[in-house]
Amino acid sequence: MRIDIVTLFPEMLSGYLGHSILQRAQAADLLDVRLHNLRDYAAGKHHVTDEPPFGGGGGMVLKPEPLFAAVAAVLAGAADVPVVLLTPQGRLFSQPVAAELAAQSRLLLLCGRYEGVDERVRQYLVTDEISIGDYVLTGGELAALVVVDAVARLLPGVLGAEGAAETDSHATGLLEGPHYTRPGQFRTWPVPEILRSGHAANIARWRRQQALRRTWQRRPELLLTAPLTDEDRYYLAILAEERAGALRGR
Ligand SMILES: C[S@@+](CC[C@H](N)C(=O)[O-])C[C@H]1O[C@@H](n2cnc3c(N)ncnc32)[C@H](O)[C@@H]1O
Repeated sequence: MRIDIVTLFPEMLSGYLGHSILQRAQAADLLDVRLHNLRDYAAGKHHVTDEPPFGGGGGMVLKPEPLFAAVAAVLAGAADVPVVLLTPQGRLFSQPVAAELAAQSRLLLLCGRYEGVDERVRQYLVTDEISIGDYVLTGGELAALVVVDAVARLLPGVLGAEGAAETDSHATGLLEGPHYTRPGQFRTWPVPEILRSGHAANIARWRRQQALRRTWQRRPELLLTAPLTDEDRYYLAILAEERAGALRGR
């Protein structure tokens, strides 16, 4: 998958992209991230990318011309590439949105700065707007990295043997259960015996139950939309009964 990112600060992104799983994914040609400096697309001797807003008010606004020029140059006529503006006003990023984007062969991400971008960019250039949460960052770079990271780990081959994205929190509609590693006993806290039993089917059932339990405790609303089997529902009924019993015993 190819992801182009237009930003005023490419060097902010290159460090993160140059390490660990994202670096290996690029080295293995599973992911191709290209950084483009918005300033390179600004005309004139001073390469001005931002101006004060019409009508007054504080801050600066990213001008439309460099953004339109950057997108045209990066796309070079390629059709059907989503042009995504990172903005706190966009649709909320989530695991399903990451999966939707991971199904694309290309993405173009635009990072805003200052007060944001000229409204004509939003109206006539971008095809999608994404927010990574209900808070305001100083720029779209961190948001772009969040999107690239969450999308990249869904691409076939990127996680390799290091982890299975299918069982991660939110991938199944549930939170994932606990993980343990060596030592088997740390201080007075042992690893659950079942994980050391070597019985694959029992371990799988235990993990599923732990995921259900954790979701039920922390994010019960996710259970309303998670795909559940009859066995899952039976286990959730046991949890509810346990809680009712504990409340009665108080
Ligand atoms: C200070 S923000 C501009 C906020 C804008 N004035 C508003 O109220 O909607 C500067 C840039 O940071 C990025 N940004 C800030 N918060 C974000 C969020 N929650 N998700 C995605 N991008 C965000 C956007 O690219 C935005 O253009």
